Amino acid sequence: MAETAQLKIGDKTFELPVIEGTEGEKAIDISKLRDQTGYVTLDIGYKNTGATKSAITFLDGEQGILKYRGYPIEQLAEKSSFIEVAYLLIYGELPTADQLKAFQYELSRHTLVHEDMKKFFDGFPSKSHPMGQLSSLVSALSAFYPESLKPSQTTEELNQSIIKMLAKMATVVSWIYKKSLGHPVIYPKNKYDYVTNFLYMTFGQRTEDVTIDPVVIDAMNKLLILHADHEQNCSASTVRIVGSSDSNIYASVSAGISALWGPLHGGANQAVIEMLEKIKEDGGDTDKWIAKAKDKNDPFRLMGFGHRVYKNFDPRAKIIKKACDDILEKLGINDEVLEIAKKLEEVALKDPYFVERKLYPNVDFYSGIIYRALGFPTDMFTVLFALGRLPGWIAQWKEMKENKEPIGRPRQIYVGATSKEYVDIANR
Ligand code: SDX
Repeated sequence: MAETAQLKIGDKTFELPVIEGTEGEKAIDISKLRDQTGYVTLDIGYKNTGATKSAITFLDGEQGILKYRGYPIEQLAEKSSFIEVAYLLIYGELPTADQLKAFQYELSRHTLVHEDMKKFFDGFPSKSHPMGQLSSLVSALSAFYPESLKPSQTTEELNQSIIKMLAKMATVVSWIYKKSLGHPVIYPKNKYDYVTNFLYMTFGQRTEDVTIDPVVIDAMNKLLILHADHEQNCSASTVRIVGSSDSNIYASVSAGISALWGPLHGGANQAVIEMLEKIKEDGGDTDKWIAKAKDKNDPFRLMGFGHRVYKNFDPRAKIIKKACDDILEKLGINDEVLEIAKKLEEVALKDPYFVERKLYPNVDFYSGIIYRALGFPTDMFTVLFALGRLPGWIAQWKEMKENKEPIGRPRQIYVGATSKEYVDIANR
């Protein structure tokens, strides 16, 4: 007998179906609630509401578990490459050697952006935030690929849009960085794999072939893998809801970039480094800043701490923290703020305020320290998060379309004025 939930309203009892996911999660299906009862539910911030059924990423916040298509994040971070994980997320299975080779070849054929894109780059003030540029530039890509605007694309057309989006994102991100320095942009070298090509375009010199340090390539792959997807987070939900109106992939991803920009979401990795620098300049008194984070009258929050879903360690934070030590040692870098970050973590994890609220370091707490060690400026950190998250956004967008989900349109409870009569301005 299928499990149901009973809802009693007045003297009536309604039976609601219960669905169970492959990992044992359960949901009360309220798809027909308003038709049956005339009631809607209210869940501001969607803290208790499932928006879809997805087969892409599973996370268990209580246990600190994260899996992409069933594969534990720890194994993928250790053994896979970013482009292999992108294939896994988007197409659902780990690629064979031939499939991966073909995928990498397809990507390498689409790394160039139209030369007219440079006019958009040149239009930004030199100090404009890279996330604002990225969101605009990704949306601008749609101007060059009118075939991607077709709502009902064939599978091949959809795949071509996906390949172009993925391939060109790395070029756009590296060019944003180069333009911020006033340096000439570097064109992709398609003999390189995706991540090496990105690092070459970002840190390469115009003249000769530079050898990108394998330690940097490995660190970049690991960081991008760890950011690749995270089920229905704020930016992925944004990409899905924009795509649900049959908006094209560039417009949907551009919206996701804008959502990720916020300091409560992907922008936290930039905010963490700015916070650590401020604590360092203030003398490194971690107790003082922990007290500020706990003080309800103080707007200061411990950035990189806390999570809507993880009420245990964010498994990505554990992996990044270890990678931090490894990479800084291999690169011979001693970053003072790493010690401040470790001290903050140590103090916070013993403090009742954080323990009671189950606030642990999240993916953003240590990632900025590695980005900085790799040579990236702070305002590029969230752009790097977006580069990593792109395969996840694409996978979520593709799944929404393949499942033919309806346009997203939540209901509300109106609490405004009820009936007013118009008054001429002369009499107001
Ligand atoms: C990402 O959703 C995802 O999956 C996101 C992400 C992904 O991969 O896509 O994992 C990436 O966005 C990670 C989160 C990055 N953001 C930050 O690090 C910013 C700092 N953290 C927060 O502001 C906060 O923890 C959120 C936004 C992450 C989660 O907020 P919630 O779930 O809405 O929880 P809340 O704000 O209601 O906090 C619950 C309590 C409150 O105290 P009380 O009102 O109960 O007394 O915890 C407190 C909050 O004040 N709290 C913090 C805190 N985070 C929560 N207090 C101090 N410092 C913090 N960082």
